Amino acid sequence: MKDWESLRRDCERCRQCSLGETRTNLVFGDGSTSAKLMLVGEGPGQQEDLTGVPFVGPAGQLLDQMMAIIDLDRTKYYITNIVKCRPPRNRDPLATEQEACIGYLREQTRLLRPQVIVCLGRIAAMRLIRPDYRITREHGQWVQRGGVWMTAIYHPSALLRDESKRPETFDDLMSIRDKLAELFPEGL
Ligand code: URA
Repeated sequence: MKDWESLRRDCERCRQCSLGETRTNLVFGDGSTSAKLMLVGEGPGQQEDLTGVPFVGPAGQLLDQMMAIIDLDRTKYYITNIVKCRPPRNRDPLATEQEACIGYLREQTRLLRPQVIVCLGRIAAMRLIRPDYRITREHGQWVQRGGVWMTAIYHPSALLRDESKRPETFDDLMSIRDKLAELFPEGL
């Protein structure tokens, strides 16, 4: 099994899809590599592409505020995306691009061995929970896969576009807090 550094180097060199040609920086992941909680978004945006760090733009800042509500910051979780290179003009990553990149996320998951995975938005939920996942109906529900608890919440950029979704997301955050308290009564 690869270690974090060799996996990052492989990812850096990857040209299995064309996003590697147009990106500025690889956006591999951020946070604690010994965390029990993993957050997975869709793909880097402009600020992430420029800095090489996931979720640092406007959506990322909102996400940080949301996680702070349940007393979590990046020392307590690991965060990454389905695709590690920015899709031009922030379009959704194509199925072929997701397919080319998913092996890196699998390796990251093997290395981290998270016990809880939170999908940020529809694209991550469709890839990691079920291809026909309906975020509007199913957000906040829990499923267990191979001993790992999984859920999805609205993507923070959806919450920037549509503030009316925020109360439901607050409830989902409370559910994440409760699940973590149940699994790790001593704290993360
Ligand atoms: N949106 C995502 O899905 N991921 C990021 O890293 C930034 C914005």
